[in-house]
Amino acid sequence: MGTPVDPVPALIRQALADASDAPGYPLTAGTPALRDAIAAWVARACGAGVDGLGVLPTIGSKELVAWLPTLLGIGPGDVVVVPSIAYPTYEDGARLAGATTVRTDSLTALGPDPRVRLVWVNSPGNPTGRVLPAGHLRKVVDWARERGAVVASDECYLPLGWDAQPVSVLSPEVCGGSYEGVLAVHSLSKRSNLAGYRAGFVAGDPALVAELLKIRKHAGMIVPAPVQAAMVAALGDQAHADAQRERYRARREKLRAAFTAAGFTVEHSEAGLYLWLTRDEECWDTVDWLARRGILVAAGVFYGPAGARHVRVALTESDEHVDAVAGRLAEV
Ligand SMILES: Cc1ncc(COP(=O)(O)O)c(C=O)c1O
Repeated sequence: MGTPVDPVPALIRQALADASDAPGYPLTAGTPALRDAIAAWVARACGAGVDGLGVLPTIGSKELVAWLPTLLGIGPGDVVVVPSIAYPTYEDGARLAGATTVRTDSLTALGPDPRVRLVWVNSPGNPTGRVLPAGHLRKVVDWARERGAVVASDECYLPLGWDAQPVSVLSPEVCGGSYEGVLAVHSLSKRSNLAGYRAGFVAGDPALVAELLKIRKHAGMIVPAPVQAAMVAALGDQAHADAQRERYRARREKLRAAFTAAGFTVEHSEAGLYLWLTRDEECWDTVDWLARRGILVAAGVFYGPAGARHVRVALTESDEHVDAVAGRLAEV
């Protein structure tokens, strides 16, 4: 279904333990070591220059996704654009702020007038695994800048490109070397198996990040000090992330072959942590068919009406379970 199952790497657990004597309040902005580690990782993984880049740790990325519209002062009468098939928290966050959500992948469909304040993009996407090309992201950024809207790019699956190479909103070919109006949202939950630690961060427009910091400081949205230390260790080590990526690659290949052989069509899924599958029937019929074989998947309709004929299969299962799924599908 999507929760990481592999162990937390030893060097990260050690860093957490070593920082456990933490009687004082932690820094909302992040320790200098963490801020440097985030900036260095963003430079490496997103191809971003660190000059003028705002960075801020978050308590996992879900809380930021849910509260971003509110933290940006978005409210009733404002519009938040989310992908047509999307992680549900984008819409939940707009609702918390009292704003209106529009689901679309094409900004030209919006017409001339709505008060769009925030546009969410998510590449590689959950649940579809779709990768948006740099040219598409660039058009979104240009469109939003012309209207004074913010582009929030949820990039929590960026390190998991398989058949396509995902591009960050912070890369010069997308943002043109300026971070004005753009925020990239990242998470260590999947890269480093840290979903239980709640470790994420946001990087981008320094003025927007400063505004978020001001409010989050007063609202107590602070990453615990031991988790900040664990994040420094995680961001500074690529070996564990490469090893985890290889686990997901092997599981993806097995699952993709098994579902294809059982008559499923795999759509998109060129990157990220999911296979987006259809048997060209209502998703609940597929969920039911698989459940009868002891295989649990997410119904596509959870992610929007356009997902009503698909299901989402996560790569976050043990090798033993993945083998069991392949075995059960082979009996069909
Ligand atoms: C697209 C997307 N964004 C954000 C999150 C939140 O991740 P976390 O809060 O663990 O950082 C998830 C979790 O599955 C996700 O799929």
